[in-house]
Amino acid sequence: MTGTRPTLEGALDCEVVTTRSGARAVRDRLTGELMHPVVGPAVEAERLYVSPSRLRDRLAAHDARPLLLLDVGLGAGSNALAAWKVSAAATRGRLLELISFDRSLGALELALADEHAADFGFEGAGREAARALVRDREHACEHARWRCVLGPLPDTLDAIAEASADVVFWDPFSPRANPSLWTTRAFSALRRVCRRGATVHTYSGATATRSAMLLAGFAVGFGPSIPSIPSSPSSPSTPSIAGDDRQATVGAVDVRDLDAPLDRRWLERLGRSSAAFPADAPADALELVRAAPQFR
Ligand SMILES: C[S@@+](CC[C@H](N)C(=O)[O-])C[C@H]1O[C@@H](n2cnc3c(N)ncnc32)[C@H](O)[C@@H]1O
Repeated sequence: MTGTRPTLEGALDCEVVTTRSGARAVRDRLTGELMHPVVGPAVEAERLYVSPSRLRDRLAAHDARPLLLLDVGLGAGSNALAAWKVSAAATRGRLLELISFDRSLGALELALADEHAADFGFEGAGREAARALVRDREHACEHARWRCVLGPLPDTLDAIAEASADVVFWDPFSPRANPSLWTTRAFSALRRVCRRGATVHTYSGATATRSAMLLAGFAVGFGPSIPSIPSSPSSPSTPSIAGDDRQATVGAVDVRDLDAPLDRRWLERLGRSSAAFPADAPADALELVRAAPQFR
């Protein structure tokens, strides 16, 4: 490790556990949160990120331009690997330009270890690509270019060109454990780098997450439902999903790219919510959200 690289102490803070569904998942000891807590990494990456973003169709489109996907919260690499595998399977598709953000490569290093790699879907070329990412911070092949940006989010988004991203997987720890990444400021930094047609996918269905995205200038809609598991205080596999809604969220630059935009009923509930806004919302946040184009 050179002196200029961010420290990778996260490697010491992670462990692999078995979730109540029987899937293996990485647990962050500092926050106690699991990465992909409910149905396991591969299924959850597909259900909450790859499928709702229509990544297969978008990569198959006739477009000479690479598709830029921002993987915010690389973690154990499950979302990124799922996207990488989609591009590997696409015949004559667009090049996938994949940029993963995290402060640490520790969780990915753990998932790539010989005793865990198969549980996390790291086999063959995908495993080699992820190993190269850890070693060189980048990997390129015929169908994808993958690189990582290490450092504190959301500031590291400043390195991305304005209006360049097509798809975003937004997967930090929960708003309870990781509040700074669910603020108006964080989503405003993200909105700057999203181009027309971009969509943002996140597991949080919290009202404050949705209002933060609206305040940042996204159109916002309901995402796929999130499978729940019964809580058990004695279990070490505490799920990380702390949304007050069991439905994920999709953001878009253009409301026409949303299947199920938040509607007036959601707006009415917002007015009654005791946790309506992120900590950095302006005093007139309710008026600003009501004035969002999608509610006109
Ligand atoms: C839930 S995990 C991501 C799981 C990952 N998407 C996957 O598929 O395995 C959240 C990740 O966000 C990273 N993270 C949280 N806050 C961060 C911050 N402020 N800056 C950079 N990375 C952060 C953590 O280090 C952690 O790896």
